[in-house]
Amino acid sequence: MLGNDDWWRDAVVYQVYPRSFADADGDGVGDLEGVRGRLGYLADLGVDAIWLSPFYTSPMADGGYDVADYRDVDPIFGTLADFDALVADAHARGIRVVVDLVPNHSSDQHPWFQQALRGERRDRYVFRDRPNDWESIFGGPAWTRTADGQWYLHLFAPEQPDLNWENPEVRAEFRDILRFWLDRGVDGFRIDVAHGMIKADGLPDVGQKEGPQAEMLGDERVPYFDQDGVHEIYREWRPILDSYPGGRMAVAEAWVSSPERLARYVGPDELHQAFNFEFMMADFHAKSFRTVIDKSLREAELVGAPTTWVLSNHDKPRHVTRHGSLARARAATLLMLALPGSAYLYNGEELGLPEVLDLPDELRQDPAWLRRGESRDGCRVPIPWTSSGDLGWRDPWLPIPPEWSALSAEAQEHDPASTLNLYRAALRLRRSHPALGGGTLRWLDSPKDVLAIERDPGLVVVLNTGDQAVKVPGEVLLASGPLADDGAVPPDTTAWLQT
Ligand code: NOJ
Repeated sequence: MLGNDDWWRDAVVYQVYPRSFADADGDGVGDLEGVRGRLGYLADLGVDAIWLSPFYTSPMADGGYDVADYRDVDPIFGTLADFDALVADAHARGIRVVVDLVPNHSSDQHPWFQQALRGERRDRYVFRDRPNDWESIFGGPAWTRTADGQWYLHLFAPEQPDLNWENPEVRAEFRDILRFWLDRGVDGFRIDVAHGMIKADGLPDVGQKEGPQAEMLGDERVPYFDQDGVHEIYREWRPILDSYPGGRMAVAEAWVSSPERLARYVGPDELHQAFNFEFMMADFHAKSFRTVIDKSLREAELVGAPTTWVLSNHDKPRHVTRHGSLARARAATLLMLALPGSAYLYNGEELGLPEVLDLPDELRQDPAWLRRGESRDGCRVPIPWTSSGDLGWRDPWLPIPPEWSALSAEAQEHDPASTLNLYRAALRLRRSHPALGGGTLRWLDSPKDVLAIERDPGLVVVLNTGDQAVKVPGEVLLASGPLADDGAVPPDTTAWLQT
């Protein structure tokens, strides 16, 4: 089952945010043993792979995206032996394992940075006598002054100093880190801030600009992101990935100004895939979905790699809340899972979890909350497993809303209409139906609020974003919600039809 080198082209990859997924040792924070204990659940769900957000040694200034040791597991998540056991058990069930690589910055607790603070070997980071005007993505200046007067660059929190990728030692270190995890059997990497690392020569000012300097998916380019030199790094990495058997892959988290720029990260000599955030940012309307789908497929064709689709992750409000209702979220999901290419799911979306909007401020942990007043904690609330008492957690690191007892995996297990069973049915059909997974699509004529997509052989997908039910041809294989008595597809609903 794990033999196919091209597995990633149409894979369904399930993102595990380790702190919030499942807690085996009962300390209120999820761990790798917790993930291992839920592999049966993930196999039943029908995912092809899991992507683990960072579980490395970290002071957790940014939920683990501040790595102090790239070759070890943080004690709150377990040990390297737990990681090896997780990979072995996942592989035994036919589930691949993708890990997160964070190359743009380390933790300020990384031995290299500690050494730099002592005034030695500052060449592995970006130290200057004077700061420029760059802003941190989390708000405030991107520079912090050290005790001896020099400044260091951090595009994210001050606890996340940017590494100096002009230094060959940094490059060699990351090539070695890649090999370390490949040797342990990982099937791929999600590259954090893949558009970062290389900065424009001389670190030029951005200049006056209203609003935040670097807007995600903004049109303007800034001198610290998406610099041409970053592609050299990926051209160094690709042969390493290719030298391992079994189809080891890498997917870029790159927020760049256009799908054309994004496509440059993908190809036979760079990375295998890039997240398609435009789809995640699309409004719940037939027209905006169609525009993004067309654009994404065109770009993917240019580089000869299938596109990816994503609706939720640990950085954005969950799509139940973004799109305004559970019905819409389920409809968007059935649309996504019917598109050609691979799909990324975020833990808890299969339970239809909404964003938690009313977390007490003092419990929020996101560094962006402290610096910019915006918090991503609401999509990181632990997963409710059981319906009674503690919902499967003892003293979870963020409180789980008591009403989530009705959304728990246990509560949804035997309800045929539950969101969990919708995801299971969709992933089962995706595996068995010859029209789903890879391939192409054709648009069918439809009213302006309706998307109608034909996939060969014999599948039509209809999404209704209007306010009237629409009549459809064919036998309904799966629908995101109840159909009208005459079989019509109601508003905020997607149906998969056999034709
Ligand atoms: C992107 C990650 O998804 C996000 O969670 C993190 O804060 C930044 N990169 C910095 O590593």
